[in-house]
Amino acid sequence: MNNQNNIRSVLNNHKIIPVVTFTNKEDIQPIVESLLDQQIKCIEVTLRNSISRDAVEVIKNIYGDKIAVGVGTVLNKSDVLFSQENNVDFMVSPGATKNLINEFENSKIPYLPGVSTVNNVMELLEMDCNTLKFFPALLSGGVNMLKQFNNLFKDVKFCPTGGINEFNYNEFLSLPNVVSVGGSWVIKNK
Ligand code: 3PG
Repeated sequence: MNNQNNIRSVLNNHKIIPVVTFTNKEDIQPIVESLLDQQIKCIEVTLRNSISRDAVEVIKNIYGDKIAVGVGTVLNKSDVLFSQENNVDFMVSPGATKNLINEFENSKIPYLPGVSTVNNVMELLEMDCNTLKFFPALLSGGVNMLKQFNNLFKDVKFCPTGGINEFNYNEFLSLPNVVSVGGSWVIKNK
């Protein structure tokens, strides 16, 4: 197995990963400040619009020494290049292809590729990846699916996202194959 540029140490340090898609520039600093007030030192900004792309730059520049800044919804080579240019701390993708894994690997940035099925996990294991985002977690079988994954794939660890909230995150975190959880609920309920 390769270590995906050391993604496990990122996840071990951040058990809860707030995920945000910014739609308003004015929200950037208050949201980061509120995370820091709660001692949450990690944020994943999805690359789904231009405001979020600007937000990555702003957060790295102003708060880069206080918070780990990851990017989410990384889909292709150009998103990986954006991540490198902005010196982000980790990258997350909703799914994975061989090409994307190659780009991730070459970037030297820790990366977390997504899976939602048994077959996806087998494909990622063939690519030597065993630390995976489980997405969309609730729609893909939630806790019960992760228990099945644990029966099948002893050395694979997951970060479930998609449908995680303040009521269920502890149940996910208590599973032996879950290393951290992610979601937008952290910021919505700030
Ligand atoms: C996403 O990619 O949108 C994240 O996984 C967040 O999902 P959530 O909004 O259900 O937490």
